[in-house]
Amino acid sequence: MIEIIIFIGLQGAGKSTFYRTHFAETHALVSKDLMRNNKRPARRQAFLIAEHLKAGTSLVVDNTNPTRGDRQDIIEIAPDYQAKIIGYYFDSQIADCLTRNRQREGKARVPDYALYMTRNKLVPPDYSEGFHRLFQVKIAENPGTFEIHPWVQEEKLGPESI
Ligand SMILES: Nc1ncnc2c1ncn2[C@@H]1O[C@H](COP(=O)(O)OP(=O)(O)OP(=O)(O)O)[C@@H](O)[C@H]1O
Ligand SMILES: [Mg+2]
Repeated sequence: MIEIIIFIGLQGAGKSTFYRTHFAETHALVSKDLMRNNKRPARRQAFLIAEHLKAGTSLVVDNTNPTRGDRQDIIEIAPDYQAKIIGYYFDSQIADCLTRNRQREGKARVPDYALYMTRNKLVPPDYSEGFHRLFQVKIAENPGTFEIHPWVQEEKLGPESI
């Protein structure tokens, strides 16, 4: 079955790294980071997602996707193509993300305030949004690796715990 994988997490949480290590071989990459010169990135993103689905290609949407609205824009495309919607919530501390972000070079590095803005908007995902599967991901101790756990809906992972 075709999959739409939606990443959710702060800048510097490890999303693009996780894409490279876990999905680059099997899933296309859709990211607004690749549309910086586009005037209507939301429309462009929806178009690209539909193109991949039409071609029968699974994909990952690698943005911070902090709000239900951001995720709804993606999820509402899925039924037309009978795609399975899977979410990965990157469980991270903002202090760690700020540190990792400051270590990045060039365009990959964003201003600190961007992380605070995302943190303030971030709403953890919920099955009621239409996800078929949800996971939480954490950067593991062994560099370059990740811990993946099934999502526990009751767990307190909201902005107040970051
Ligand atoms: N598992 C890991 N172990 C060690 N370092 C990591 C790990 N994952 C990511 N990093 C480092 O953390 C930094 C941020 O990672 P990455 O670029 O993947 O974050 P991101 O969530 O894609 O951020 P953005 O939303 O800004 O694109 C990078 O310098 C990366 O090398
Ligand atoms: Mg990234």
